[in-house]
Amino acid sequence: MRPQGPVMRLNSCHNFHDFRRMAKSRLPGPIFDYIDGGADDEDTYRRNTTAFDACDLIPNVLRGVGDIDMSVTVMGQKLAMPVYCSPTALQRLFHHRGERAVAAAAGKFGTMFGVSSLGTVSLEEARRLSGGPQVYQFYFHKDRGLNRAMMARAKEAGIQVMMLTVDSITGGNRERDKRTGFSIPFRLTLGGMMQFALKPTWAINYAIHESFKLPQLDGHVDMGGGALSISRYFTEMLDPSMSWDDVAAMVREWGGQFCLKGVMSVEDAKRAVEIGCTGIILSNHGGRQLDGSRTAFDQLAEIVDAVGDRIDVIMDGGVQRGTHVLKALSVGAKAVGLGRYYLFPLAAAGQEGVERALELMRTEIERDMRLMGCASIDQLSRQNLRFS
Ligand code: LAC
Repeated sequence: MRPQGPVMRLNSCHNFHDFRRMAKSRLPGPIFDYIDGGADDEDTYRRNTTAFDACDLIPNVLRGVGDIDMSVTVMGQKLAMPVYCSPTALQRLFHHRGERAVAAAAGKFGTMFGVSSLGTVSLEEARRLSGGPQVYQFYFHKDRGLNRAMMARAKEAGIQVMMLTVDSITGGNRERDKRTGFSIPFRLTLGGMMQFALKPTWAINYAIHESFKLPQLDGHVDMGGGALSISRYFTEMLDPSMSWDDVAAMVREWGGQFCLKGVMSVEDAKRAVEIGCTGIILSNHGGRQLDGSRTAFDQLAEIVDAVGDRIDVIMDGGVQRGTHVLKALSVGAKAVGLGRYYLFPLAAAGQEGVERALELMRTEIERDMRLMGCASIDQLSRQNLRFS
């Protein structure tokens, strides 16, 4: 008998592209495009992955690589693997278990999970499910009372790492979302509505499970009074006057591991050190904000050389393979964040999908470390790389 259903399909996913295809077949078009899309012409989005192609690996042989240790310590957290699930918004739209599925999968793999200010499960519940270290991705709102309340709540919940996103002070120009009318909750164009009708399984799952919520923003965003686009959230609720002084005050108030996500210049990296941050994440927000922005991988060496001995430098963007991770770590990143890499598997098959994607990544990293002649992450260095 031919095996049927999601397990069979999931087993036929061997890489990012397979998961992306499976997610595309399951999600209504507007939701797939929200995950998949970038800003403007999507140049930065594409370059995030192709940047790795300009870097070749130079392996060493005969190094005794029977036992591989791929653990890293970053922002005070020991991770069993050098990748973590970056915080991303609105996961309940992608699969009815949303952040619950990702938190549980990350916990099983001994890695870090990030819950977003725009998360659809409460940070407290995600914390219980993940078991591993948890990041809270924070947006700086105009409402300072909301900011203080969110920080206090995260502290109370035992969140280990505060991660302030600094590259989204206004909404990126996501033209795919404009075309489909993607918003939260939905207010779709006619074309967009047709897309939902074409994916009845998703629509039924969405309808029979609990209703869509943004628990981190409860009482602050009125979900009943009309749709809010991501662009409007950024533009109307976030504070464009946020300054280094505001962030310095937050770092003091938090009093623990604090990183900035979306730092790209050496000057900003140095300021992050000065105000007491313990980490920076080089990121262009998956190519979703400033199109034409340099890729994090291309910018990594410059930043590591400037501040790598004083702060944990992390990067995200375009990572689809174990070799991408090894290249970033060889340049000097302490860990690497994954976004779409786990979101498509989430959409494709929930927790099982995310687990399969993390398993594939772990297997690739382990195999690639052996082939590189490195038994532990600290053996990776720029001597293993050549840039064309
Ligand atoms: C996005 C935000 C919400 O990129 O992180 O859509």
